[in-house]
Amino acid sequence: MDPLPTGTVTMLFSDIEGSTALLSRLGDRYGEALSAQRRIVRAAINSFHGREMGTEGDSFFVVFEFAQDALRACVQAQHALQAHRWPQETTVRVRMGLHTGEPVRLEEGYVGMDLNRAARIASTAHGGQIVLSDATRRQVAPGLPPEMDLLDLGSHRLKDIDEPEHIFQLTGLGLPVDFPPLKSLGAQTSLPVPATPLVGRDDELAELRAGVGQVGVRLVTLTGPGGVGKTRLGLALAGSLNQAFSSGVFFVPLATVTNADVMWKVIADSVGADTDREPATTVVERLAGRQALLVLDNLEQLGEAAGVISALLAAAPGLTVIATSRRPIHLQGEVEYAVPALAVPDGGDVEAIAGSAAVALFVQQAGLVRRGFAVTPANAADIAAICRRLDGLPLAIELAASRVKLLPPRALLARLGDSLDLAATDIDRPGRQQTLRSTIAWSYDLLSSELADVFARMGVFAGGCDLDAVGAVACPPGVDPLQAISDLLDASLVTITEAADGEPRVGMLVTIGEYAVDRLARSGGLVETRQRHADYYARVAEQADGQRHGPHQLIWLDRLEIEHDNMRSALTWSLDSAAADRAGDEGRARTGLRLVNALSWFWYGHNYATDGRHWLELAIDQAAGEEGPQLAQAVHGLGILLLQQGEHERARATLEQNLTVWRRLGDIAGLARGLNSLGVAHRLLGQCDLARERLAESIALARAEADDSRLTTALSNLAVVEIDCEEPERAMPMLREAIALDRRLGDLWAVASGQVNLAGAMILADRAAEAHLLLCSIAGDVAAQGDQLLMSDTLELLAAALAKLGADARSARLAGAGGALRETAGLPISAPDKQLLWRALGPARERIGHDAWKRAYAAGQELTAAQAVELARQPAGRPLP
Ligand SMILES: Nc1ncnc2c1ncn2[C@@H]1O[C@H](COP(=O)(O)OP(=O)(O)OP(=O)(O)O)[C@@H](O)[C@H]1O
Ligand SMILES: [Mg+2]
Repeated sequence: MDPLPTGTVTMLFSDIEGSTALLSRLGDRYGEALSAQRRIVRAAINSFHGREMGTEGDSFFVVFEFAQDALRACVQAQHALQAHRWPQETTVRVRMGLHTGEPVRLEEGYVGMDLNRAARIASTAHGGQIVLSDATRRQVAPGLPPEMDLLDLGSHRLKDIDEPEHIFQLTGLGLPVDFPPLKSLGAQTSLPVPATPLVGRDDELAELRAGVGQVGVRLVTLTGPGGVGKTRLGLALAGSLNQAFSSGVFFVPLATVTNADVMWKVIADSVGADTDREPATTVVERLAGRQALLVLDNLEQLGEAAGVISALLAAAPGLTVIATSRRPIHLQGEVEYAVPALAVPDGGDVEAIAGSAAVALFVQQAGLVRRGFAVTPANAADIAAICRRLDGLPLAIELAASRVKLLPPRALLARLGDSLDLAATDIDRPGRQQTLRSTIAWSYDLLSSELADVFARMGVFAGGCDLDAVGAVACPPGVDPLQAISDLLDASLVTITEAADGEPRVGMLVTIGEYAVDRLARSGGLVETRQRHADYYARVAEQADGQRHGPHQLIWLDRLEIEHDNMRSALTWSLDSAAADRAGDEGRARTGLRLVNALSWFWYGHNYATDGRHWLELAIDQAAGEEGPQLAQAVHGLGILLLQQGEHERARATLEQNLTVWRRLGDIAGLARGLNSLGVAHRLLGQCDLARERLAESIALARAEADDSRLTTALSNLAVVEIDCEEPERAMPMLREAIALDRRLGDLWAVASGQVNLAGAMILADRAAEAHLLLCSIAGDVAAQGDQLLMSDTLELLAAALAKLGADARSARLAGAGGALRETAGLPISAPDKQLLWRALGPARERIGHDAWKRAYAAGQELTAAQAVELARQPAGRPLP
C-alpha cells in the first residue's frame, strides 16, 4: 500500500445523524441500513483516492491528499445516499465535515490538534450537510465549479478547542440547503425537540408566560407527581420564551445528578462554558451580564440544588430559571406552579370528548402504533373512561395508548380497570402516584417473560445507555437487543433520544426506571445485573484508556462524558455500597479497581479531580489486602490527582508508598513512572536535591529499558528542576535530548513546550540572542498547538530576551501582549515564573522610565499574539511603528 500522505492533508469525518429515529423505525433492519451506508460512503472515498484511517460504528475518518478530492467524494457519497432505497422508506442522513491541516503522521496514523479540530467541525453538522473549515475553503474556493457554492455559516466555538472556527457549507448540485443552526458550543438554544407535538396546555402556558414576564420573577418551579408533564411543560414554556432571552435558552438535564459539583459541571456543558477550569467559576463568567433562561430539569433528588440556584441568580442578574421538581425548592422569591394533569372529559358528545386534552394525547399516542386511530362514536365513551381512570396523567395515558396495537379501547379499559382496582387496595400511595404505578405494572404484566426480563434489567442503567450496552447487560443470550428495544419502545416503556455524539440512546423516564429496578430486586436478579453493568463499563473505560493517544481520542472522551452517570453508578456499586452487602465478594472491589485505573486519565484531564480522588481513595481502601500492580497503579493515580489539587505533601507520601509496592513487585516500568511523579512532587515542595535524585533514577531506568516516552518525560522534568535551581547549563542538554525524542515520538505539543523551556534556560544563562532566535522560529509551532499557556510563556520569554538585548520598548510591548493573553484565558502566572520575568525586565524598565514602560505595555496589550511575535522578529534598532 502507498505510504500515507504527509504535510498538508484534508481530513473527512462523517457519521449518521439521528441513528435514533432510524433505529426506532427500522428495528432489526437497522443493521442492514448501517452496512449499506458503509458501502456507499466507502465507494465514494475510494473513487477519490481517500485513505480510510478509522471506521467506528457508523463513522468514518478519511484522509485525502487533495482538498478537491475530499469535496468531490463527499458530494458523490451524498448523492448516492440520497438515491439509495432504504428499508421501509426511511432516509439515512450522513453529516460530513472537512478540515485541511497538517496533522502529525505517525507510522500507523495521524495525531494532533488539526485532527481534533476536524472531528469537532464534523460534529457540528446535520445529516445530509457537508461543512468545511476555513482552511479547506481556501483550498477549494479558487477551483470551485460554477454549479457549486459555499455558504458562510459564521464563526463557531468548538468543544476543547480554543480558537473559534469559521465554518462554510457546500451547496449546489442538488444538495439540500436548509439546515438548523450548527451544533457548536454556546449555540443560542439547547432545547431538545420532543418526538411528538405538545397536546393542550394553552391555558397553563399563557398563565406561566405572564408570570415569568413579571418584574422580579426569576425562579419558577413546576411541581407535581411523576409523569404529570412537568418536563414537557417546562420545555414548551422555554421554547415560547426564546425571543425574550437574547443570550439563549438552555436545557439542563439533572435527573441523575445528586451533588452540587456535578450539577455545576452539567450546567457548564449545557451553556457552553469552559469545562477545563472550575465550572462554578466559568458558568458564572459565561452567564453574568447575559439575558439567559435555564431550564433545570428534575431536581427533586438534588438536595444541594438550592445553593447552586441561589448562587447563579445572585451572580447573573439577567438570568431566569425554570425548574422542574416533584417538590418546591424553597428559595426566597421562588414561584411555585403545581402542574395539573390533563383535562379529562366528563361525558358529552364525540366532539367534546375528542376535544379534551387527555383524549387528544391518547389518540396521538395510539396513532403511533395504529395508523389512523381516531375517536369514533363507537369508541369515544371507552376512551373517555380510560382517560378518567388514569386521572389524566400523561405518562399513564401514553403507556395505555401504546397497547391499542393489540387491545381495542373496550378491551383495554376492561383489563386496565381490573388492575387499577386491584391496586387501589395499596393504601400507602396517594391517588395519582398509585394510578401511575399500577399503570406501569399493568403494562409490565403484558410483556412476554423474556421481554419483561430485559425491561427489569434496563433499570440498572443511569442516564440511559447505547444499544451495545443493552446487549451486554440486559439481554439474555439469544435475545436481539434491537428487537427487544423496539418492542419496549412500542410499549412506551423506554425512550430513544439522540446523544451528544449523535448515537441513539435508550432511556427510561424516572418513574418507570424506579419500577424496573424494583422488579429486578424482587426477582433476585439485581446483584448479578449490577455486576454485569459494572464489568461492562469497566471494559468501556479500559477501551477508552487504550485510545487516549489515538485519532479517536476525542470520540472516546465524549463517550466517557456521555457514560459518566453509568460510570458513577458502577463505581458506587463496586466501591461505595454498604460493606455488609459486599461481604465475601472480592470480585466487586476488583471491578472497582479496574474502573478507577481506567478512568484516572479522564478525571485528570477533564477536571474531575475531586470526584476521581474520592473513588481512588475508596478503591485503595478496599483493596488494602491486595498488593498487585492494579493497586499500585491506583495509588499512583491518586498521587497525581493530589498533585493536581495542590496537596503536595500528601501526594509525596502517597507516591513514596506507591514506590515501595513497585519495588516489591519488581515492576520496572511502574517504578520508573513512580520515581518521575515523586520527583515532581519533591520539586513542588521545593526539595531540589531529592527531586534531582528521584528523576535521575527514573531516567536511568528508562534508559535501561529503552522506554523513550518515559525517558523524555523524566528528562524534561529534571530540566525544569535545574532551571528552578538556576543551573541552566545543566538543563539545556537534557531539554535538547527530550525535544529530539518527542519529535521522534510525534508529540508536537511536547516538542513546542520543550523548546519554550529551552529558551527560558538560555535567557537564564545570559544567551539572550540565541533565545530570541529560537523563540521567533518556534512561535508558529506554538500557535499551532492552540495552547494559550504555552503562547503566553513564549511572549513573556520574548519580552525577557528583548530586555536583555536592550530593546526596551519592544520588551514592554511583548510583556503587555503576554499579560493580556493570560488575562483573557484566565491563566495567572506562577510565582517563580513571575519573579524570573521581573528580574529580566526590571533593568529595561529602569532604562526607559516608568511612564514610557507603562505606555508601551498598554500598547502591547492591544496586540494579538501573532502581531506581537511579528514585532519581536523585527531587526533590533528599527524604529517602532
Ligand atoms: N402536554 C403534553 N403533550 C404531549 N405529551 C406530553 C404532554 N405532557 C406530558 N407528555 C408526555 O408524557 C410523559 C411524561 O411527561 P414528563 O416527562 O414531562 O413528566 P414529568 O412530570 O417531568 O415526570 P418526572 O417527575 O418523572 O420527571 C412524557 O413522555 C411526555 O412527553
Ligand atoms: Mg421530568
